[in-house]
Amino acid sequence: MSNRRSRILLFDSGTGGLSVAHALRAQLPEVDIVYAADTAGFPYGKWAEVLLVRRILRVMRDLLDLVKPDCVVIGCNTASTLALDVLREEFQVPFVGTVPAIKPAAVQTKTGVIGVLATPGTARREYTKTLIHTYAFHCKVMLHGAPRLAEIAEVKLAGGDVDKAALLAEISPVFREKGGVRADVVVLGCTHYPLLLDEMKDVAPWPVAWIDPAPAIARRTASILTDGDKADAGPVSVERDTVILTSKPVDGGRIPAGFASAGFDKLQIADIPL
Ligand code: DGL
Repeated sequence: MSNRRSRILLFDSGTGGLSVAHALRAQLPEVDIVYAADTAGFPYGKWAEVLLVRRILRVMRDLLDLVKPDCVVIGCNTASTLALDVLREEFQVPFVGTVPAIKPAAVQTKTGVIGVLATPGTARREYTKTLIHTYAFHCKVMLHGAPRLAEIAEVKLAGGDVDKAALLAEISPVFREKGGVRADVVVLGCTHYPLLLDEMKDVAPWPVAWIDPAPAIARRTASILTDGDKADAGPVSVERDTVILTSKPVDGGRIPAGFASAGFDKLQIADIPL
């Protein structure tokens, strides 16, 4: 056992995990965070399941060797709904996952209609369907696999403009009336989406409660770090607040804008091609 600071590896396909990073930093200011984005594999929402599981296992093996974290937070619904069990079987370190917040949405809705925005991969998953059947069987659920929403968030985080018409097209399938009743709660079932919350509020046809699971993930992570013993993991080659990317960023050696403004000020490339 040792007294060193705890270390979290926060993982996503791209910048989406930043919505979770903000909640982790608020809840756990004394904990070191290393962020890893499988940019070579982005977007995960479009992968076939078998290939994506293989990809995630491969990337995770390399990342765990590099970072030696006390806990891994999979800040990605598309990866969690597919690979969380396999990751837990394969590796010893505790994993916290991110899955669509259907349970709290079903409790919160007053109209009985909830919208779920997710990547096409998450929308197709058995895991997501089971969440709906288990917790929202009494609700009407409009589940939409948005083909480009995560990419729109990436554009914004890289400093680009958000195309409002494209954004509306991505979210409008959950803004349909069902028998004269409207969704009053929309689940943000991809960690990229809270990063577009202001813009989505602007274009949404009517106001709804948007559910971001990040605070619940941060609470779960805190309880795991409090309960767990910290093994002396030996020397680590990655400093806290580092962003690890699995491919070179488009503008060379610079940290993509969204990461820098979230306090990740060091960049490391772990070249893990497809
Ligand atoms: N941020 C990821 C999620 O929560 C997925 C984005 C993607 O790679 O398609 O599902």
